[in-house]
Amino acid sequence: MKTVLTGIKPTGKPHIGNYLGAIMPALKQANSSDTRTLLFIADYHSLTSMHKAEELKAATFEVAATWLACGLDPDKVIIYRQSDIPEIFELSWILSCFTPKGFMNRAHAYKARVQENQEAGKSDLDFGVNMGLYLYPVLMSADILLFDTDTVPVGEDQVQHVEFARDIAQKINHNYKKELLKLPKASIQDSVKTIPGLDGRKMSKSYGNTIPIFETEKKLRKLIMKIVTDSLPPEAPKDPSTSTIFHLYKEFASEKEIAELKALYEKGIGWGEAKQHLFEAVNKEITPLREKYNELCENPQQVEDILQEGAKKARLIAKDKISLLRQTLGL
Ligand code: TRP
Repeated sequence: MKTVLTGIKPTGKPHIGNYLGAIMPALKQANSSDTRTLLFIADYHSLTSMHKAEELKAATFEVAATWLACGLDPDKVIIYRQSDIPEIFELSWILSCFTPKGFMNRAHAYKARVQENQEAGKSDLDFGVNMGLYLYPVLMSADILLFDTDTVPVGEDQVQHVEFARDIAQKINHNYKKELLKLPKASIQDSVKTIPGLDGRKMSKSYGNTIPIFETEKKLRKLIMKIVTDSLPPEAPKDPSTSTIFHLYKEFASEKEIAELKALYEKGIGWGEAKQHLFEAVNKEITPLREKYNELCENPQQVEDILQEGAKKARLIAKDKISLLRQTLGL
């Protein structure tokens, strides 16, 4: 059976872009195929930049509760918290002993930071870089290699990390003349669409233009009303293909509703009214999920139990791999 593994870095409130671009496609895939699917919350990766305990804890919980509320079935997907699997660290150290330092110098995230420092005229080019950030790709390789992962569904920006995992695995296999670690492949889903945010640019936390999935109904409406539009008068015909509102609407409405809104655009519709249609479509889909999410927020222990159960399953796999490695490496 093929193993598919994904890690989610908790960084803030999951938003509609995450929901449409990552969560729903992943759940669809997990529910329809007979793969072994692992999904974990990469809290140790977040620790590279999140140094407030309450923030990290809340963000970790939010990710778990979001995926569960969106329909992740813990019987089909092994869901766990990275920091509950100490074997990841053991492997991380082993991997770092086979990773040329030069590899890490070439890592995108690190290079970007160095470049920022250069542009800011800093004399220390490593300013703001901790060892966690520097070794981020090694920890990620351990996440992947520990579970004999075949496929890692990721966005473009993470492909290099999966290649690091392959390279490091190859070095180790070569050295011990044994297929110790499986070589993973990144799969960049073409279905990962770009979802526009409030200002029309890609919805992203770094642009501050997101619509969090589980805002209250009132707040959701308020956010949707903030979507930037042009200043055409209500009666003027409008082009759906350049409208953020319409683009988002297509993700939530039925074929029939989409055709109806399109006709209204062509006839002339006020932006406020178009936004109201969008709000209703989003709210209709999100409401049952929001209820589930709120229920989980009131019962955090329920989420914790699921994570602990997942960690138990994951560690069974992890322990085998580590003991094989220990044996082979002479530890
Ligand atoms: N680095 C990934 C991100 O920022 C998160 C991640 C950590 C991950 N470990 C992983 C993704 C292992 C896939 C596999 O999105």
